[in-house]
Amino acid sequence: MINVFGSKVGAEEIAQITESINNQWMGIGPKVKEFEEKFRDRLSLKNFALLDSGSNALYLACTVLNLPKGSEIIVPTFTWVSCAQAVLLAGHKPVLCDVDINTMNITVETVTPHITEKTGAIMVVHYAGLPVDLDPIIALGYPVIEDAAHAVDSWYRGKACGTIGTVGIYSFDAVKNLAVGEGGGITSQNQEIFDHAKILRYCGIGKSGFEASKHGKKRWWEYNIISQFIKMNPSDISAGIGLAQLSKLDDMQNYRKQIWDIYQAAFKGYDWIKTPEEALPGDKHSYFTYAIRVPKRDELAHYLFDNEIYSTLRYHPLHLNKLYEQLDTKLPNAEQLNEDALSIPLHPNLKMSEVEYIIEKIKSFYL
Ligand SMILES: Cc1ncc(COP(=O)(O)O)c(C=O)c1O
Repeated sequence: MINVFGSKVGAEEIAQITESINNQWMGIGPKVKEFEEKFRDRLSLKNFALLDSGSNALYLACTVLNLPKGSEIIVPTFTWVSCAQAVLLAGHKPVLCDVDINTMNITVETVTPHITEKTGAIMVVHYAGLPVDLDPIIALGYPVIEDAAHAVDSWYRGKACGTIGTVGIYSFDAVKNLAVGEGGGITSQNQEIFDHAKILRYCGIGKSGFEASKHGKKRWWEYNIISQFIKMNPSDISAGIGLAQLSKLDDMQNYRKQIWDIYQAAFKGYDWIKTPEEALPGDKHSYFTYAIRVPKRDELAHYLFDNEIYSTLRYHPLHLNKLYEQLDTKLPNAEQLNEDALSIPLHPNLKMSEVEYIIEKIKSFYL
């Protein structure tokens, strides 16, 4: 079966893990620090903390904004479940909004009708790695949580996605552009917010060891708990994999773009396939996923499956799920995407012969 998502891991990742094992150090340690510094520099971030998942990064982001409990946070309905779950976990209310049918991203037009006196923040998701047009959303004047889970190496007007809003998050799960198995991260242009996030990451412990203990070196085992929070620590094992992935990120990104360009060229002129939008000139796409819109989508997905090609839809709109059914909510674009959008394989482990085969099968289905 040709997988829809995948990662490229091998000798470099094994070498990193072996080093950690040989050092007898698997938890948070030197490799986490090294990854944080290298990732920060690669994307020109002001700061960066590695976490155990992008989902937890979202929960942390919703927490560090310090909004009054019960605030409304506007979230696109066409996104991964963690976006809304994080809002609830932080004691707030997700208010779901629609996305643009072409970019599949939220826009100032889809956000504005949902603004109320209780609005506390807006969460944007750079869907598939296509940068959201953020400037008009930021101009609304609310804190912005930037979900760059798909957007490692997406750029908007010269800035890395994740650095434009108030707080930005990344995901490094097994299928993301930079994959460590399970992992995520957080950054903020506001150093105070970032410092708070870093304290919360480890059960709300402010400082550990010598620094924290009021007895100084006499009782170096004492720490100083300053907030109530859960543990979101990353491990040196995942950070090591991240270091290996980082060293080949450019190659993997170029390969993703090559596949993307082949799909774009192959489907040009086929009216029944709506191909995904390109980034605007000056911006940069991360090519996380290639989502087409087609008639008879379900039949195509089954036909591909029968031909050993896996495809999927990211995402089942949140407002169509039991927990998030909102009375009278109609979000027609997301509902349309739920009927006709399909992600086809795009990942750094996909062979070019498989790309050709996928194209041939999609075209033959409509003959
Ligand atoms: C848009 C988006 N946000 C957040 C997440 C959560 O990331 P993680 O899987 O690292 O928890 C995902 C995961 O797929 C995602 O797609």
